[in-house]
Amino acid sequence: MPELIPVLSKNEIKKTVQNLGTTISSDYRNGQVVMIGVLKGAFIFMADLVRQLSIPVQTDFICASSYGNKTCSSGKVSFSKKIDIDIVDKDVILVEDIVDTGLTLVCLIEYVKSLGAKSVKICALIDKQERREIDIEIDYAGHSIEKGFLVGYGLDYAEDYRNLPEIFNLKL
Ligand code: IMP
Ligand code: MG
Repeated sequence: MPELIPVLSKNEIKKTVQNLGTTISSDYRNGQVVMIGVLKGAFIFMADLVRQLSIPVQTDFICASSYGNKTCSSGKVSFSKKIDIDIVDKDVILVEDIVDTGLTLVCLIEYVKSLGAKSVKICALIDKQERREIDIEIDYAGHSIEKGFLVGYGLDYAEDYRNLPEIFNLKL
C-alpha cells in the first residue's frame, strides 16, 4: 500500500499562495501580467494564485510533452497545447507546480522568449533541489524542499492524487 506522509497543510498552502499573490501584485503594480500555467500539474495552483492578484492578469496554459534529450533547440520539445494569446511585449510569468531537474522550464522560457515576451519570470509552488540539473532562477518560489516525491494539489503520481487538497510525500 502506498503511504502518504503530510508535507503541506491546506492552511500552509493558502498562506503561501496569498504571499506569492501579494508579492507579485506589488512587483508589477501599475502594470499587468500574463500568467501561463504549465499543465497539468499547475492547474489548481494557478487557479488559486490568479485570485490573489490585485493587478490585471491574462491567463493561458501550456502543455509540453516530455523531452527526448536535454536540449530544447533540437526540436525535441513539442507542445500538446501552445500559447493562444498574444504575448508580444508582455510581462509573462510561467506558473509551475514543482521544479525538479529544471529541464522543462528552460525549454519553456526559451519558447516564451521566442514569441516576443518583454520579460519572463518563474513562479513555482515548490522548488525541489534533489535532481536539479540546470541552475535556474526561480523568481517566486512558494516552498523549498530537499527531496521526495510529492502528490496532491495538482501534483500527480501516474495521474492519481491531483485532487487532494493537501500535499503529501508519496512512499511507494
Ligand atoms: P523538471 O523540472 O523538468 O524535471 O520537471 C518538472 C515536472 O515534473 C513538474 O512540472 C511535475 O509535473 C513533474 N514532477 C517533478 N517532481 C515531481 C513530484 O515530486 N511530484 C509530482 N510531479 C513531479
Ligand atoms: Mg508540471
